[in-house]
Amino acid sequence: SSVIFVERDGSRRVVEFADGESLMQAGTRAGVDGIIGECGGSCMCATCHVYVAEDDDGKLPEPDSMEADALEFTALNVRPTSRLGCQVKLSAALDGLTVTVAEA
Ligand code: FES
Repeated sequence: SSVIFVERDGSRRVVEFADGESLMQAGTRAGVDGIIGECGGSCMCATCHVYVAEDDDGKLPEPDSMEADALEFTALNVRPTSRLGCQVKLSAALDGLTVTVAEA
């Protein structure tokens, strides 16, 4: 299965993922520009911030309170479709998910 990252310059990167991997892990492994994962996935850095495509937003469970707090207090340029990539667990059901790297 694969996920599509749209980088800040508009480039589209199709990244294969393994079931159970996080969106941040898939993005950093593939070297997607702007996905850094500085805190290692512990909801502290927001360097994995993405916007989920409107059509795909309903496919994901709502952010839990830790992720919601990190979005509120740590992330910049937050939108209604913002997610922290380290908290989005990928599975085959999410094949084709499209996310845009958040504005810096
Ligand atoms: Fe740090 Fe997601 S990797 S908040």
